[in-house]
Amino acid sequence: MTRRFYVTTPIYYVNGAPHIGHAYTSVAADIVARFRRLAGDQVHFLTGTDEHGQKVEQAATAAGETPQAFTDRISADFRAMADTMQISYDDFIRTTEPRHVRGAQALWEKVAASGDIYLGAYEGWYALRDEAFYGEDELIDGPNGQKLAPTGAPVEWVREPSYFFRLSAYQDRLLELYEKRPEFMGPSGSRNEIMSFVRQGLRDLSISRTSFRWGVPVPNDPEHVMYVWFDALSNYLTALGYPDTNNPLMAFWPADLHLVGKDIARFHTVFWPAFLMAAGIELPSRVFANGWWTVEGEKMSKSLGNVIDPRDLVSEFGVDAVRFFLIREVPFGGDSDLSRRSFIHRLNTELANDLGNLAQRTLSLIARNCNGALPEAGARTEADTHLLAQAELLPSLMEEQVGRCALTDALEEAWKIIRACNAYIDHQAPWALKKTDPERMGHVLRVLADALRIIATVLQPWMPESMDRMLTQLGVSESERSFAALGVALPAGRELPAPKGIFPRYTEAEDEKGQ
Ligand code: MSP
Repeated sequence: MTRRFYVTTPIYYVNGAPHIGHAYTSVAADIVARFRRLAGDQVHFLTGTDEHGQKVEQAATAAGETPQAFTDRISADFRAMADTMQISYDDFIRTTEPRHVRGAQALWEKVAASGDIYLGAYEGWYALRDEAFYGEDELIDGPNGQKLAPTGAPVEWVREPSYFFRLSAYQDRLLELYEKRPEFMGPSGSRNEIMSFVRQGLRDLSISRTSFRWGVPVPNDPEHVMYVWFDALSNYLTALGYPDTNNPLMAFWPADLHLVGKDIARFHTVFWPAFLMAAGIELPSRVFANGWWTVEGEKMSKSLGNVIDPRDLVSEFGVDAVRFFLIREVPFGGDSDLSRRSFIHRLNTELANDLGNLAQRTLSLIARNCNGALPEAGARTEADTHLLAQAELLPSLMEEQVGRCALTDALEEAWKIIRACNAYIDHQAPWALKKTDPERMGHVLRVLADALRIIATVLQPWMPESMDRMLTQLGVSESERSFAALGVALPAGRELPAPKGIFPRYTEAEDEKGQ
């Protein structure tokens, strides 16, 4: 039976323009989605925009637009960025859509029916920038004795009537969840942090506001709009048609993977499961938090003017180079820095040299010496068998790693084989065999073409455009690009198109640094 796989990105706030940090989580989720499709799963991949809340309302006012016109414009820009980044989403949800508003209200009612929502008054510290409430004990000292949120965001004392969610009642159930299902959240650093936060005790959570209007009205009390996180988290369900159990998409629940940034892990691993427990809805299988990007060692900020729009990098280097770098630079889960120099260095060494040259050397030798057709697989030497056996293990090895969100380790597995292929080609020297043993030359090139086919197949999720070109050059038709298709050898004699370089070399940054 085909397995269903539901993967989500966070829905992005529309209070500012999309940047590389947003692209990051989406690229990672896209790799997982594409990988699962190649493995034969029926995938549902959701992304979208988070459009309510005071922060968005204020940003719209500052831009001199109505909140709706403002969110329409910025949401379209996020969608355009997702398209540029080749994010293969199946659905893009906007929290201002009627389907979402209805679903969020239905979830509220379901939670309320459990008795875990009550009306009270909220008095406490609120950080607008984080759209989060903080306890007195969590605050840190800022300049001039000013109190700040632990994230450094300014806080204000807020007092207003509010509905509360009885989060305090969920402490034990949440701890039990983390203990019983260690795979529920990762990476381990994030898991430990969340567990100690929950162990310290949970306060009830204010889940409605009356001081602004731009939100989902609370059912039966339209003076209140929902706290933006109650509204936002419910998107993972409302996009499947919740509460309509007849919607076929509901079969994708529970989600297999919520990918999020580390700053919002707490909302996904504490609030979200507690809301779902209250509503009697199954919990997602896994929440995984990625690290944060700095740029040339600095935090990205409007005031520093160093906010990177990934589309600028894409127009200069191509989408796959950017996708590759984002995942390759640091083990997925950790923090990372985007420096132009190390970006270009990786493109040159790993893409142009390691992989690009391997393909170019193999394919041009086939074009020149084998009439441009795929050679026969001959009797295999030990070296041939060894190389191919390693390459054939790639899909299952990488599947296990992608399953753990070890997206960088999975790439590294492919690179081990690429390096092994480079060692093989140097050692076998097919260019020399041309004179001494042309038949063996053909066999060697076929081993390389077969290994390259596996490599290009498994790398499709990371670099869809260039692997598409590589597979075409290797004579692999569109229907022969899944993991299952790898079991069927390509027929010898298949004509290959003229080879063309796939990964260019860049000189600029290395020259600039006088290297
Ligand atoms: N709207 C909420 C999410 C609701 S999900 C139910 C939100 N939006 S956000 O636009 O502020 O952030 C979305 C994602 O972008 C988060 O996962 C966050 O970690 C990520 N990033 C924002 N800046 C980033 C970097 N500089 N680096 C890496 N990721 C960053 O939070």
